[in-house]
Amino acid sequence: MEPQLTALLAEARAAAPALASRPEFEAFKARYSGPKGAFTAVMKTVGALPPAERPIAGKLINQFKQHFEALYADTIARLETAELTAQLGPAIDPTLPAPSPTGLLHPLTQARREVCALFRKVGFTLADGPELETEWFNFDALNTPADHPARNEQDTFYLPDSTPVGNVSRHANERFLLRSHTSTVQIRTLLREKPPLRVLAPGRTFRRDNVDATHSANFHQVEGLCVDRRVTVVDLKAAVDYLVRGLFGPGAQTRLRPSFFPFTEPSFELDFSSPDLGRLSNKWLELGGCGLVDPEVFKACNLNPDEWTGYAFGFGLERIAMVRAGIDDIRHFFQNDLRFLRQFA
Ligand code: PHE
Repeated sequence: MEPQLTALLAEARAAAPALASRPEFEAFKARYSGPKGAFTAVMKTVGALPPAERPIAGKLINQFKQHFEALYADTIARLETAELTAQLGPAIDPTLPAPSPTGLLHPLTQARREVCALFRKVGFTLADGPELETEWFNFDALNTPADHPARNEQDTFYLPDSTPVGNVSRHANERFLLRSHTSTVQIRTLLREKPPLRVLAPGRTFRRDNVDATHSANFHQVEGLCVDRRVTVVDLKAAVDYLVRGLFGPGAQTRLRPSFFPFTEPSFELDFSSPDLGRLSNKWLELGGCGLVDPEVFKACNLNPDEWTGYAFGFGLERIAMVRAGIDDIRHFFQNDLRFLRQFA
């Protein structure tokens, strides 16, 4: 009996490596251990042996049974591994370039988030307003006289009177336009919230500029508004110093240059300079307008100008991003050239 079993096992061991699927394995197993299997057949002969020989034969059978079981277990493990490998697909070659580049934030988004993060630390909240505005919010409430040049059709995008506009609240029966600055959000905030308040309003703005390296018909500003009792130019100066140092390095300085805006008094242009700006280091660069909120603005928003004071600023986000990254042409921001955008990863 032993030579017979040895031969059977040897045959099975030789055949097992060629098995390539579970059905093949099941057929193979049946050929030896199934009801009509060769090993089963040998096993059945034990009963026919004389009682004295049975224990030895039984032991032998058990031994070979274990060998077969081990062979089945090894084979099924090999097949399972092969199945898994097939499911996982071809092996990964880590030296290949990534098939799809990971996304990254647009440089303007990065600049906006940085400005917001800085002001959030000192108690400002975010405010928002529509890009499609009305004359009252963009000009009248901001104390801009009817004959002010900014109102000119050459400077501001007006919508035709027939444009159906459903969701922008109108103060009176005025024209719709694309907001020319984010100062509209000063008004929307003052009408909605009670001072004291500190808000930051980043957003898109529009002007009828001819597009060139430093002008774009749509661009972004970040508006700041702080209203409280006894706010002075010192508070404004502290806020812009804090911003400029956060953005352009601890050595950055600011300069308030007298200017005019209808909605601030006094009004300034803010210049800054920093030793950490590469080829722009230590040059005075303009960032935008600012000033103390004009009493007329408070009146337009039903606030008492004897009680409330405030400062406001409106800075160009493109300007911030351009200075920080040494970009010399504003058009790069809007052309979606991946060779440009990928540098901001
Ligand atoms: N809105 C002004 C502009 O677009 C900037 C500004 C904002 C000035 C707030 C003063 C106060 O030029």
